[in-house]
Amino acid sequence: MKGSMAQQPHEIVWTLTNAVVASKSLYVVAELGVADYIADETMSVKELASACAADPDGLDRVLRLLAAHGIFERHADGYRHTEASRLLRSDHPMSMRAFSRMMGMPVIGATFGQLEHSVRTGSPAIQLVAGNGLWEYLEGHPGEGEIFGQAMTGKAAADIAAVLGAYDFGRFDTIADIGGGRGHLLRAVLDAVPTAEGILFDLPDVIETLDIDRDRLTARAGDFFVDPLPTADAYILMEVIHDWPDAEAAAILSAIRRAASPGARVLIIENVLGDAQSDPRGHTLDVIMLAVTGGRERTGNQLEMLLEDTGFADTAVIDTAGPMRIVEAVAE
Ligand SMILES: C[S@@+](CC[C@H](N)C(=O)[O-])C[C@H]1O[C@@H](n2cnc3c(N)ncnc32)[C@H](O)[C@@H]1O
Repeated sequence: MKGSMAQQPHEIVWTLTNAVVASKSLYVVAELGVADYIADETMSVKELASACAADPDGLDRVLRLLAAHGIFERHADGYRHTEASRLLRSDHPMSMRAFSRMMGMPVIGATFGQLEHSVRTGSPAIQLVAGNGLWEYLEGHPGEGEIFGQAMTGKAAADIAAVLGAYDFGRFDTIADIGGGRGHLLRAVLDAVPTAEGILFDLPDVIETLDIDRDRLTARAGDFFVDPLPTADAYILMEVIHDWPDAEAAAILSAIRRAASPGARVLIIENVLGDAQSDPRGHTLDVIMLAVTGGRERTGNQLEMLLEDTGFADTAVIDTAGPMRIVEAVAE
């Protein structure tokens, strides 16, 4: 909601209860690609509806709701972009279109329909929807795997700039990105450090469909619970540790420790839970992990304990200009 008018208690409950309506509207508009049909001028609802094969009245009503949240601007002659709706364009360098499509994917929607299971049992609700978990599901559904990869890449664009601004990667000769997805972070790091070589490690279906500049970048397919990891001076893990419960998170860090020489650094790059209980972003991610992956967001102390238990020392938590923090530790 626009503006900063404090809400009454019943309005807080009403708004949150109905948040799913705006979220689903955003998903549908992203799915239809509405933002791609709006350039710099206002587009009439009729033109938009015909371009994306929608009913003009239905489309107008969801767009009007999104405009109330600052996504698109409604005028007498149609809709115009705002800074937020531009992010739904597929060609925006920081496009969030795939992220909205990903969170609305039927497998994610059905998982949240089973959230009570996670709350009652502590187990990821996705087990009731896709028994072998998210990663196997994406492997078997390449269309959705593609949307997931695009979502990670698009949403990370701002985070990557903040990470590069906060940490000096120039001291490393070899950098391994473990669970690095499409390699967007590693590519950006190698572009910033022209002397460094990079190794991207991820599951075979991700590596097979990789479309990235391979200059000084080697891609290696494998499973970090089974296969040996590469030797490197630094290991990046962006939004990987939070995907897993403690035992699996420790197994990934132990695999890195086995591959690393003493003195090598591990860099866990993700949201770190702080004391700000009123900021719902980290807690939102935490509940997504509870239901979808079985992982969790962690405090700096929890990450430090995981690192110490798996052979790393001198943990430091480094802020970035964005929501990510860098938790650095040294292989003993
Ligand atoms: C949340 S994504 C993060 C991707 C990337 N680091 C980023 O921040 O955009 C987690 C990544 O872990 C990978 N992954 C999951 N299980 C894995 C496994 N057993 N071995 C290797 N990679 C795995 C996924 O394929 C995915 O690319």
